[in-house]
Amino acid sequence: MTGVDYVHGYSGREAERLTDQADTLAALLHDGVAFAAGDSVLEPGCGVGSQTVHLAARSPRARIVSVDISETSLAEARRSVADAGLTNVTFRQADIHCLPFEDQSFDHVFVCFLLEHLAEPALGLAELRRVLRPGGSITVVEGDHGSAYFHPDSEAARRAIGCLVELQARVGGDSLIGRRLYPLLSAAGFRGVRVEPRMVYADGSLPQLVEGFTLRTFTAMVEGVRAEALGQCLISETEWERGVAALHRTAERDGVFCYTFFRAVASR
Ligand SMILES: C[S@@+](CC[C@H](N)C(=O)[O-])C[C@H]1O[C@@H](n2cnc3c(N)ncnc32)[C@H](O)[C@@H]1O
Repeated sequence: MTGVDYVHGYSGREAERLTDQADTLAALLHDGVAFAAGDSVLEPGCGVGSQTVHLAARSPRARIVSVDISETSLAEARRSVADAGLTNVTFRQADIHCLPFEDQSFDHVFVCFLLEHLAEPALGLAELRRVLRPGGSITVVEGDHGSAYFHPDSEAARRAIGCLVELQARVGGDSLIGRRLYPLLSAAGFRGVRVEPRMVYADGSLPQLVEGFTLRTFTAMVEGVRAEALGQCLISETEWERGVAALHRTAERDGVFCYTFFRAVASR
């Protein structure tokens, strides 16, 4: 299986974008996430391993099992982890809805940017809960494209972002899922759910964040759906180009970009 029909696709450019995103946001998203020696950690939806390398490096003596539905992505993930000299990760092809693991076989689950692509995230969470041992922890990281605001403000930029939100919804996902983590995890039966908003703020004094997040993560993600947005007549070409130019404009010296990720931690 090459993978699911999901909004960002499996191009080399998207693999690069995921790695830029993970590297730029490692401190923000992985801060405080460390698992003890000998603990088993499941990472579903590992993709090309962009988060896996940070996860494994921060918990060098935990045993990480990373799965993805796409064999192609897994091959790349294996390479990245080997290149990073990490030896505490094993990979397996699997669908989150039907994991090839016994009940209660993991101490922890770490899941990043996967629930947003599921038509029924409750089903994925139920399966994660099944394989987690009682008392084990789950950490979920998701974004929420409704949290993006910027200076200079631009209606065209908001419309271009809206195209991505709509396209993701049309293939069954929810790019506004960050705000739903608390109700989703609670309804799935997890206990002690705590959600932390983790905000990215990038201005001209933070050129690495502007490059790594505003341009190479967020704007690149919006630009990645150009063909689908125009092909499905969600926006005119002129309006699209104006919106993308306005996103680039927020990366200039006097521009500002804000976005909030949500990190939820709960136990079984
Ligand atoms: C946006 S990528 C995130 C990858 C990685 N977690 C990261 O943050 O870089 C989403 C990944 O979820 C995978 N995926 C989508 N649906 C899946 C499913 N039903 N089961 C397992 N993986 C799935 C895709 O193949 C893709 O690699």
